[in-house]
Amino acid sequence: MYYLGVSYSMAVENKNILFKKLESKDAIPFDLLLLADPSIDLIAEYLKVSELFVATDGQEILGVIVLFPLTGETIEIKNIAVRTKLQRQGIGSILINNAIRLASQSKIKNIFIGTADTSIAQLSLYQKLGFRISGIKEDFFLTNYDRPIYENGIQAKHMVTLIKTL
Ligand code: ACO
Repeated sequence: MYYLGVSYSMAVENKNILFKKLESKDAIPFDLLLLADPSIDLIAEYLKVSELFVATDGQEILGVIVLFPLTGETIEIKNIAVRTKLQRQGIGSILINNAIRLASQSKIKNIFIGTADTSIAQLSLYQKLGFRISGIKEDFFLTNYDRPIYENGIQAKHMVTLIKTL
């Protein structure tokens, strides 16, 4: 994919949000990435081959989305996160819709995303944006993370995978 230089601006809640690829000179927003994935090792591993996009308002990074080339025709959203105080204002939807828009302009045919079986809000968001559940990676969060992850009072075990066909 050739996303370099892509930027797209839109207004939300008095913000002028710019969606753009993070430039190599910019610091990687690990604080945001860790909201979606508590493993710094896994993040570092997939960042090596992924493209990282951000939603900004001026100098402030509001949210981040990481696109990983899974196959020639499929990308995976490896990580999506919005600054905690700004969640539930539509920024996550903006990040995903822009990823869909960019992928639609390339030869990508499918967008894949995986989340924990405990991620009720995320599962709702992804399905609202047209992703459909495609499978379960059993015990993913038990075998890939060195400590238990709890969400909504439940321990995360399996990864629920979803696909959107473009
Ligand atoms: N409770 C219930 N539903 C929610 C919630 C919530 N806390 N947050 C989002 N949703 C759902 C709702 O359906 C909502 O629509 P509605 O507001 O009309 O009811 C819909 O998502 C749209 O929400 P947005 O405002 O667009 O999403 P937001 O900007 O909050 O971003 C995100 C969503 C990225 C999941 C954000 O909440 C976040 O950063 N969470 C922490 C990190 C995380 O869990 N990331 C995803 C992990 S999986 C992965 O990275 C592949």
